[in-house]
Amino acid sequence: MFNDIERVLVSEEELSEIVKKLGAQITEDYKDKNLVLVSVLKGSVVFMADLMREIKIPCTIDFMSVSSYGSGTKTSGVVKIIKDLDTDVVNGADLLIVEDILDSGVTLEYLIKVLSARNPKSIKICTLLDKPERRKADVKADYAGTQIPDAFVVGYGLDFNEKYRNLPYIGALKPAVYE
Ligand code: IMP
Ligand code: MG
Repeated sequence: MFNDIERVLVSEEELSEIVKKLGAQITEDYKDKNLVLVSVLKGSVVFMADLMREIKIPCTIDFMSVSSYGSGTKTSGVVKIIKDLDTDVVNGADLLIVEDILDSGVTLEYLIKVLSARNPKSIKICTLLDKPERRKADVKADYAGTQIPDAFVVGYGLDFNEKYRNLPYIGALKPAVYE
């Protein structure tokens, strides 16, 4: 598994710093709000688990699962809901969508559209990684951990064909693995 990584893009130490900073910012911004963290499965689970513990105000969590990728490294452009939120307490909630990576933006554009229709009080995006070069949809992250270049990355929740999610850092996959 470790041999398939070309280089480490975000180390464990850097990830920890990034998540602490985001948590502190969210804690400050949502002090008087009704924060509901919506984790997008499966890629954001590791980030979500770390981020929620850096948020020092009351909040609730829920999960959604969408698919846009199939098994390749490029988006299919078609998003579908595989698992919806358990709660329908969206009405009046301050939703914060927690994503692993903002790439083309197609997934988040769709999620924002679907969740906005349920009348949340507010809706914002927190992404660990931002790949601005690849944007197709007009989506901006309200909170972004760090920008990365246009490489296919895995680890810390992100996968290639469901593998590498358990790597403790973010690494660029050797092209030979997916070509
Ligand atoms: P988007 O709809 O193109 O913005 O893609 C968002 C989703 O694609 C993310 O939630 C990831 O699951 C997946 N994705 C995009 N880029 C990468 C990558 O470099 N590695 C692993 N998954 C990725
Ligand atoms: Mg994802």
